[in-house]
Amino acid sequence: MVIDGPLYDGPREAAVTKRRMVLPAPEGVNCGFPQPLFRVQRNMSDPQGNQPWIDRWEAGQIGWHEPDGNANLKAHWKGSGQRVLVPLCGKSPDLAWLEAHGNDVVGIEVSEIAAEAFFVEQDMAFERSGRDTPVFTARSRNITIVCGDYFAIDSDATGGGFDACYDRGALVAIDPAMRGRYLETTLAQLKHGADYLLVAVEYDQSVADGPPFSLDAESVGRLLPTLRRVAAVDDLDNCPPKFLDAGLTAFYEVVYRGRVDGG
Ligand SMILES: C[S@@+](CC[C@H](N)C(=O)[O-])C[C@H]1O[C@@H](n2cnc3c(N)ncnc32)[C@H](O)[C@@H]1O
Repeated sequence: MVIDGPLYDGPREAAVTKRRMVLPAPEGVNCGFPQPLFRVQRNMSDPQGNQPWIDRWEAGQIGWHEPDGNANLKAHWKGSGQRVLVPLCGKSPDLAWLEAHGNDVVGIEVSEIAAEAFFVEQDMAFERSGRDTPVFTARSRNITIVCGDYFAIDSDATGGGFDACYDRGALVAIDPAMRGRYLETTLAQLKHGADYLLVAVEYDQSVADGPPFSLDAESVGRLLPTLRRVAAVDDLDNCPPKFLDAGLTAFYEVVYRGRVDGG
């Protein structure tokens, strides 16, 4: 696996093995990224292929969720006082971390179960409004989660004009064929010069297939050419068990940061 890609602009990262999280999974519940792996399938009744995600939330099979939030967000986020877009946010405590650091945070998530669980677990009073596009808003904190298909939610629903985007498990969750459209949708919500922090994964997809889909440096260079790689962390211990079963021996969480041309 190529870790030093063309975008690499720092000293070679030490391969830091993250502390293994030994959380026993409830019976029948898998503990990796969406696992067992499902194919993103689109059909007439589910044109965006969202149903498998909704099913996962209903079944509580959310192995990607990090109860303590993402370590690379804490290590690499810069800035407060920003309006931050968090695509495909799940119920990540990262939303609360960003808000606690002075930002106004808007997440987008297809599952209402996830949105409600976020506020309940963070012990934040919230209101639900909207019908076709439900919106969950914290009563006394600057956090909103807009529910629906990411590709159908525009600046009218979110307010747009974001200064920054935090993308963990989002671009890599999208079918690679949809990456261009995902970024078009995302950039349309961001201001010119917005900060973009991308936390992605990189592995040999000829051994195992996503989601999460591998995103190599070359692809990032094509899709988001202004981003630079700032870290790569050995994350084999936290990869979907199915990946290990398939024989995968290397799995990295990779972090990119930079300014993008939104608007
Ligand atoms: C891999 S999870 C990552 C969640 C979160 N970013 C985190 O770090 O925990 C991907 C999330 O995206 C949501 N999702 C997938 N496709 C979506 C879409 N088209 N529109 C909105 N949400 C979507 C799923 O329900 C899931 O919660």
